[in-house]
Amino acid sequence: MKIFTIATVLGLASLASAEIFLHETFSDGENWTQRWTPSTHRADLGKLEVTTGKWFADENKSNALRTTEDYRFYATSTPIKPFTNKGKDLVIQYDVKNEQHIDCGGNYVKIFSDKFDPKTFNGDSEYNIMFGPDFCGTKAMVHAIFNYKGVNYDLKKTVSAPNDVDTHTYTLIVKPDQTYQILVDGEEKASGELIEDWDFLGPKTIKDPSASKPADWVDEHEIDDPEDKKPIDYDSIPEFLADPEAVKPEDWDDEMDGEWEAPSVPNPDFKGPWAAQRIPNPDYKGPWIHPEIDNPEYKVDNEIYAYTFGNLGLDLWQVKSGSLFDNFLVTDDIKEAEAIRQESLDLAVKEKEAKAVHEAELAKAQEEADAEQAAVGTEADDKPLEGGESGDMEINFDELNFDDEINLDEAAAEVKENVAEIKEEVEQKIIEAIPEAAKKPVKDEL
Ligand SMILES: *[C@@H]1O[C@H](CO)[C@@H](O)[C@H](O)[C@H]1NC(C)=O
Ligand SMILES: *[C@@H]1O[C@H](CO)[C@@H](O)[C@H](O)[C@H]1NC(C)=O
Repeated sequence: MKIFTIATVLGLASLASAEIFLHETFSDGENWTQRWTPSTHRADLGKLEVTTGKWFADENKSNALRTTEDYRFYATSTPIKPFTNKGKDLVIQYDVKNEQHIDCGGNYVKIFSDKFDPKTFNGDSEYNIMFGPDFCGTKAMVHAIFNYKGVNYDLKKTVSAPNDVDTHTYTLIVKPDQTYQILVDGEEKASGELIEDWDFLGPKTIKDPSASKPADWVDEHEIDDPEDKKPIDYDSIPEFLADPEAVKPEDWDDEMDGEWEAPSVPNPDFKGPWAAQRIPNPDYKGPWIHPEIDNPEYKVDNEIYAYTFGNLGLDLWQVKSGSLFDNFLVTDDIKEAEAIRQESLDLAVKEKEAKAVHEAELAKAQEEADAEQAAVGTEADDKPLEGGESGDMEINFDELNFDDEINLDEAAAEVKENVAEIKEEVEQKIIEAIPEAAKKPVKDEL
């Protein structure tokens, strides 16, 4: 039973070292602003808020970070407890809900080192890993980009992202043996080896630069048959002949019309320029294949996966805002990540029920509005217009309320200001219109 004991000890040891470096749930109301730093890289970055969204599963768990402005860049970040994933598993996981029917916009996260300036954070800030979905038109894909020696490498496989209005959980797992997994809602969408599925190291072999095709290499498939000789009289066969069927017209006058000649017709025996028969080349060696050698640039690196982490950021462009981000998780604990994911998946099921209720309410409200409008329309049709309603407005002075004192000086000043503004606007319009009028051809004026 010694083996069991060791296994138990190892199990406990690995449990003890497992750690969560970031788990952001936005569940404490306004306090998220203490943990997230908006970039000040540009003044017009989109605003974010924490809200449950239009429909949700649990009022206490569904708070999420939402983009609120259309046609905006977003850049904000939060610290991760600094750590290195060297020798450890790495899990990056979060939930996204695009309840706005996203048409074109990013949903991905970027994970940065501890050397990162949240204030200047922008699209060019160097990251370690970029992970998550991205949508535009028919494109709906999950990015997984790793920075290796300053260069960003894209996953060579295509992972598609669900493009709907429900919450989905995205998970990236990287292990110290340089294998990886991408999960969407807990289902594996891609897996394999980092060095196979990203081009970090370049090709293993290259064409030998010192080798070249020998000058005497015979790569001609066919040659002229040396036995095939041009017949001696071949060139004497004329291309055209005098038409043997032609007859000199009866009224031909040799003196007036010159000597009669039959018109030319193609010679059926003429074969065109002579060419020898082609035969297979007995010296043919096949196509020359450039020999390959080991790529001297290819250096096995067993630590491509290892980074130092310190920050997580959203750097997005959104045409239609309204994406909700929740449960940002960075950990070395695959089991814990799975438990947190399961909770998200369970909530997503309830959320779908909430969506159905929400949609039913919307439909009912629409129906009621339509019915009301129809009723108003009928009433108006039934009722003939009376004098008072046709435009002769009668004022009932008893009903007017003169509680607010009117300051005549202030009112006059305001009117003056408005008039000045309108005047300025009109002048500007005239100035703008002049070059267009001047460009008009004179003809039009006539
Ligand atoms: C928000 O932060 C303040 C101060 O840091 C703290 O006192 C308060 O309990 C927090 N609120 C919640 C809901 O966690
Ligand atoms: C949310 O929390 C409040 C206060 O703790 C509680 O009264 C309420 O029942 C909770 N709602 C749900 C759906 O659990």
